[in-house]
Amino acid sequence: MSGHGDPTPMKSRKCGPLSGVAEVPGDKSISHRALILGALAVGETRITGLLEGDDVLDTARAMRSFGADVVEHGGGEWSVHGVGVGGFAEPEAVIDCGNSGTGVRLIMGAMATCPIAATFTGDASLRSRPMGRITGPIGLFGAKAYGRCGGKLPMTIMGAADAVAVRYEMEVPSAQVKSAVLLAGLNADGQTVVIEQEATRDHTERMLAGFGADISVEAVDGGRVITLTGRPVLTAQEIVVPRDPSSAAFAVCAALIVEGSDVLVPGIGLNPTRNGLFTTLREMGADLSYENERIEGGEPVADLRARFSPDMQGIEVPADRAASMIDEYPILSVVAANATGRTVMRGVKELRVKECDRIDAMARGLEANGVAIEEDQDTLIVTGSGAGTVTGGGMCKTHLDHRIAMSFMCLGMSSQQPVSIDDGAPITTSFPIFEPLMAALGAQLERIN
Ligand code: S3P
Repeated sequence: MSGHGDPTPMKSRKCGPLSGVAEVPGDKSISHRALILGALAVGETRITGLLEGDDVLDTARAMRSFGADVVEHGGGEWSVHGVGVGGFAEPEAVIDCGNSGTGVRLIMGAMATCPIAATFTGDASLRSRPMGRITGPIGLFGAKAYGRCGGKLPMTIMGAADAVAVRYEMEVPSAQVKSAVLLAGLNADGQTVVIEQEATRDHTERMLAGFGADISVEAVDGGRVITLTGRPVLTAQEIVVPRDPSSAAFAVCAALIVEGSDVLVPGIGLNPTRNGLFTTLREMGADLSYENERIEGGEPVADLRARFSPDMQGIEVPADRAASMIDEYPILSVVAANATGRTVMRGVKELRVKECDRIDAMARGLEANGVAIEEDQDTLIVTGSGAGTVTGGGMCKTHLDHRIAMSFMCLGMSSQQPVSIDDGAPITTSFPIFEPLMAALGAQLERIN
């Protein structure tokens, strides 16, 4: 569980070219879902390439508490012996989801239509995040939630017995909410329908289909209507988890801003609901190419090559792209600081309710390193003066947020003075090998006291 230990202050200084092959870990979103759906299936699901970061390990522990037999075999190989849809047992102790909003929200959905109670908590970051977006829709199935004021953790969910399917129109563009409703719909009688105005990541839908659920997805006006028939028998699967594009983003973006770099990230997930960052970077003039495009485990995958790109220009990032790159705005703002002109990121208010308020964290940290920013509730604008022009020298607060920590470490790789962070410990939630991997490419990161 993250965020429970001592802070790890770190420093990143200007380095020579980054080069080599960056084998980033497995996709966090897919890893959570593989464990949860494996736990709801009949038989033994085998998972290869599972992300062994704190967030996913917390979900693995949680699935054991609900009665699944989750076994680690080493080297990213895991097996899950599931209990079947509706078969969750009542956990005997509080479920601690650490730093993971995805973990807690998906698990709440999955248990919401089982006749059991479960109490959830997490670290200081997770305890500050809104759960009303989940308790609202699972309440439609008949689940009851008892949490702190403002819908915060710790929170007890009393699952509904004999739940009936619901029709739910999404109020925020969130794959976590969509997934929670679909997972709740698994043990409800009838067809659960979720309507999303903006398409969000669709790993749950793809994986449910892979496990044998009766699920259909209809595209309408940029959004989707998803229909799931309740009470399926999910059949255990072999799952190969692709590398995480959100983790690859750090190696890719660092290569774009560090002079002379050339980095290859093999086998990264290119699911169109996740690849907004790479589209945006190309529009800015980044030297990015896809090689060896293929389908693995139902997900599109390619090798991605990134080279130093000294002539990137600031652009206006379309607001309707936000859902497909929601986790990548912190690292995009680091690239924007090394591009010429204004990069305007609109429609990003969801960033305010992530592991921390990411607009505020990036704005303050960039300012501390001499970068001009403008912000409002729903917008972040970064004005850059070109590659290598960031002054640096600042100390940035990471607020228990892994992506803020890694973004500022990347900023330091090309800035004139080193960039420091107050705490790099949260990096292990999603990218436990970030330090050795970046060091092997040529980065100069150090822990400071
Ligand atoms: C995730 C969805 C996103 C994302 C998170 C992972 C998922 O959150 O920020 O890191 O796996 O479903 P929202 O769905 O709340 O936007």
